Amino acid sequence: MNPSKICFIGAGNMARAIISGLVGSGYPADHIQASNPSRGKLDALSDDFAILTTCDNHQAVQWADVVVLAVKPQLMEAVCQPLADIDFSDKLVITIAAGIPVARYRDYLSQSLRLIRTMPNTPAQIGFGMTGLYAPADISQQDRDIATRLMQAGGEVVWVKQESDLNLVIALAGSSPAYFFLFMEAMVSAAEKLGMDERQARALAQQAALGAAQMVIHNPDTPLSTLRQNVTSKGGTTAEAIATFEQGNLRDLVDEAMVNCIKRADEMAKTF
Ligand SMILES: NC(=O)c1ccc[n+]([C@@H]2O[C@H](COP(=O)([O-])OP(=O)(O)OC[C@H]3O[C@@H](n4cnc5c(N)ncnc54)[C@H](OP(=O)(O)O)[C@@H]3O)[C@@H](O)[C@H]2O)c1
Repeated sequence: MNPSKICFIGAGNMARAIISGLVGSGYPADHIQASNPSRGKLDALSDDFAILTTCDNHQAVQWADVVVLAVKPQLMEAVCQPLADIDFSDKLVITIAAGIPVARYRDYLSQSLRLIRTMPNTPAQIGFGMTGLYAPADISQQDRDIATRLMQAGGEVVWVKQESDLNLVIALAGSSPAYFFLFMEAMVSAAEKLGMDERQARALAQQAALGAAQMVIHNPDTPLSTLRQNVTSKGGTTAEAIATFEQGNLRDLVDEAMVNCIKRADEMAKTF
């Protein structure tokens, strides 16, 4: 069976990350096309990955079996409207835009649109992404497998059962790289105040973060609380730091941050 022809509408950071992973995993470059209004990003993509490029969204969608919508959510309606005259019955559409519900795409393009929503995160740019995927019940296993393969180009994938769970994916994985950056930023800043230079402090903090994440991954059956307790001797230095976080209600703050993140995703879904 011939591989699907995949077009990307929007050739920004996330499209580039997925294209890079696809080509790196051996997907034929002449079966990938990117469409973008300005040439700069297209030229870089064709130089780096030898994929096809165009400034004509309509032409790219007509050519493709799989259409990846990779523009900012606020542009989605304007991007979809000129495509509404195309017959989508033989095409799978995969969107990476945050917030816009399936029903909205069906209003824009076709009520029987084969659509899969995905929510990737920034580490997909270096192959360490986590993407949540959701498909309505009428989407075939074959289409789900295509979306899985596509998003695995940027890292790991998780399928969610309900569309509303995608907002939880945003709070847990889409936005959370920034939470960890903030935590490391605060640690490095504290070390600088105590006299260490920024570069050395960052090297220590980043390796500790990587090591902690790897320990979680390597011990899937060990509760996170046990991993924490295992490195927290009674009366020791770690215990002192952890007690400070607990007294400062870190857990309540994380609860509140996640709830507010989801609220914002709900608001955005109504706006775009
Ligand atoms: N970056 C992330 O971590 C992340 C994570 C999860 C989801 N997402 C979603 O991924 C989508 C893309 O994000 P991004 O970070 O890749 O944004 P981006 O770098 O700004 O890319 C968007 C691209 O769309 C192009 N574009 C604008 N108008 C267009 C049109 N009419 N037709 C075709 N292309 C058009 C832009 O071109 P010009 O620059 O030439 O205007 C730009 O290259 C967004 O919906 C975002 O919600 C991103």
